[in-house]
This record gives sequence, structure tokens and C-alpha cells, in this order.
Amino acid sequence: MHAQEQSEVTLSYQSGFGNQFASEALPGALPVGQNSPQKVPYGLYAELLSGTAFTVPRSEARRTWLYRIHPSARHGRYRRLERQLAGGELGEPTPNRLRWSPLELPAAGTDFLDGLVRTAANGDARQPQGASLYRYAANRSMERVFYDADGELLIVPQQGRLQLFTELGLLEIAPLEIAVVPRGMKFRVALPDGEARGYVCENHGCPLRLPDLGPIGSNGLANPRDFLAPVAFYEDRQAPVELVQKFLGELWATELDHSPLDVVAWHGNHVPYKYDLRRFNTLGTVSFDHPDPSIFTVLTSPSAIHGMANIDFVIFPPRWMVAEHTFRPPWFHRNLMNEFMGLIQGAYDAKAGGFLPGGASLHNCMSAHGPDQASTEQAIAAELRPHRIDNTMAFMFETGQVLRPTREALESPSLQPDYDQCWAGLGRTFDPNGRQP
Ligand SMILES: [Fe+2]
Repeated sequence: MHAQEQSEVTLSYQSGFGNQFASEALPGALPVGQNSPQKVPYGLYAELLSGTAFTVPRSEARRTWLYRIHPSARHGRYRRLERQLAGGELGEPTPNRLRWSPLELPAAGTDFLDGLVRTAANGDARQPQGASLYRYAANRSMERVFYDADGELLIVPQQGRLQLFTELGLLEIAPLEIAVVPRGMKFRVALPDGEARGYVCENHGCPLRLPDLGPIGSNGLANPRDFLAPVAFYEDRQAPVELVQKFLGELWATELDHSPLDVVAWHGNHVPYKYDLRRFNTLGTVSFDHPDPSIFTVLTSPSAIHGMANIDFVIFPPRWMVAEHTFRPPWFHRNLMNEFMGLIQGAYDAKAGGFLPGGASLHNCMSAHGPDQASTEQAIAAELRPHRIDNTMAFMFETGQVLRPTREALESPSLQPDYDQCWAGLGRTFDPNGRQP
């Protein structure tokens, strides 16, 4: 596909997860049988983009060969931008449970990059682990192009579509879909609906992958064929473009005299991809009790500790609740893992109010939480017929290390001062003489 205006974009995808994809926008642009021939077809330059160290096991390796009009090396000096990402420095650690109301949509022109607000983090790119969590609210398409040297970006829209013009092609996502842009991949974000709001997880650790399924077997949860990678799409545009990178937490920029989205052909597995959360094959109990939420894991980034995630992306989709003699909402709990939650649409079954689409909550290591008073009382009194939870899509970024909110998040007017109150009315129902049922 050749360069086109945004209104005329053609969406075309190839399906699979972790595949060695190959795509060419001009016939015969991909070299055959080797990666870097002496002369590349059409006078293109060959360039390797590595997302992992060369020597990791083959199953871990992520890399893509790019055949492009200009090599990425052709650029001038980067200068540190005066305007850095919003959110600022991390604030004081707090064991308190925190909840935020949705970000306001901006009044002034704000592109996706300016609209990113860092909310919490438990790492940065100085170590190959941890994540930084953002919310975004934007109302203007990016003209500049961006890449993140600090990690891959998992983007979760809550309002408004995003068109991601990447080096490897175009992805469009709407709320209830997600996209992952791999580390180092250049892209810009257009907003076909004018306004957009959502969440971003910047993963500094191992790239996200599908979880193992264990006794579930070879099908279920997110199925590989429902992940979609783009096809080659290039811009042959000789006009000034600002290229911004995030490097060790800070934004730097340089001016190019051409579009850096000029990859005519590519092959590899270090690719952007999208996934429709409605395709998730949700599994749960058909007898009693409530499985751990790991049963809802879409993507996981493992840590160095076997079985403990650096980041899990977990969803709570519409589903049938059929458990017998069971307290059906998520139980009260205190966990080792740290939980940052967001809501894409509807309501979450453990919160009767206060947790709004576009809002967020943070429950760190061992902080006690669970259903609020209204949800608890309703669940204890409920007649347990099969019940379908509809119009909902909550999600969780769950991580093994404590998340520190940013100073901005701690001082934001969107931080709800009364969050603890949602459990305050859980009264004493204990009766030492009343062992029923
Ligand atoms: Fe929790």
C-alpha cells in the first residue's frame, strides 16, 4: 500500500501471535533467501531492529528486518525537549488504596504524546524489568513521529479510535480493542474521532506474550489467530518531520527531512499488533467458588522469578456467573502482587459506584481490598440463578513490584479522597450463637 491520506486508509492485517511475518508494499521488495543482500530491490536500505539481545533463546528472540527508503541512521543530533511527559516524578510510596476519577478531555490542542500522563511506575529503563503506567486524553492527531527506547507500549483505548501509523503498517483500534507497539518502533497516532482517552502500560521487562495454558489445554483465553499484525505501508514523503524518542524517561527530538515511516517491506516477529478483547474465550467455574483472576490473563511479561509476572494484562469481560453456593464477586483479598485497574465500559462487578469508565484504582502489595459494601450486601443476599454480567470491561495491570504513584497522581483533583469509605460500612454480622448456614 502506498502513502495515502488518513481518510483513505485501507486496513489490512495478517493474523497470528509471535509469527515470523513477512510483508511487502511493492512486489518483489523483500529480498529472497537472505537478509542483507549487496543490493536490495528498488534501491532500498536493509536495517535490523532487535527487540531482544541477539543471544536469548530462539523462543524469546524478537527482531524484524526492515527494507526502507532512508536508513534510520540518517538523522541529526537529538535535543532534549523542554516539554516532557506529564505526570512528573514519582511521589512518596504509600500503602493506601487509591482511586482516580477519569481524566478530563483537554481543552487545548493535545496530541497523544502530550496527552500521556504518567500515573504510577515500578521501574524504568535502567533495569530490564518493571512498568510505567499512564492514562491519556488527547484531541489532536500527531504530526510528529515517536518511538520509545524504554519499553513496549500496551495501549488500551477507553474512548475514541486510534490509528497507529507504524513503520510496519497501519493498525486501527477502538475501545474494547488493544494494541502493542514494540520497543523502538516508530509510529504516530491519528484520532479519527477527534477525541480519545485511555490507558497505556509501558513495559520495561520481557516482551508481552500469551500465557501458558497448563491443564486448560491447547485452546482458550486469547487465541493466537485473533492477534493481528499490519501489512507493509510506507510514506514516500520529503517534508520536515519531528522525530521524538523517549530515552531513559526523557523526551528527545530531532528534525528529519523525510517521513521515517518509509519501510517498503519487512519480515520478522518484532511487530506491532492488535487484539479485540471481545474475542477472549473467558473461562470460569461451572461448579462453585471463584477462580483466581489469573484465569483472565490476556498477555503476560514474565519476570526473573518463575511464575511471577513482571506485568500481566488481565480483563474482566462480560460473562455468565453460574457458581452455586458461592459469593460471586471477587472475594476480599490481600495479595503479594500489585494491582492497577481501569474500566473501559459499564461497571465492574465488585464496585457499585465510584469506579468509572476512564478511572483507575491502585491496590499495592498486601493492601486489603475487595467488593465495596453495596456489592457485598447484594452478593450475600442474591438468589443464585445463572446471571450474565453484561456491558462491562474492566482490566488490570498486575505486577510483582510495588507501584509508586507519581506526584501528579497524588496531587490530582481526580484522586478520590473518600475511597476508603466504600468499605467503611461493612458492619459486624458475627454471631457466636448463630452457626448458619
Ligand atoms: Fe484485587
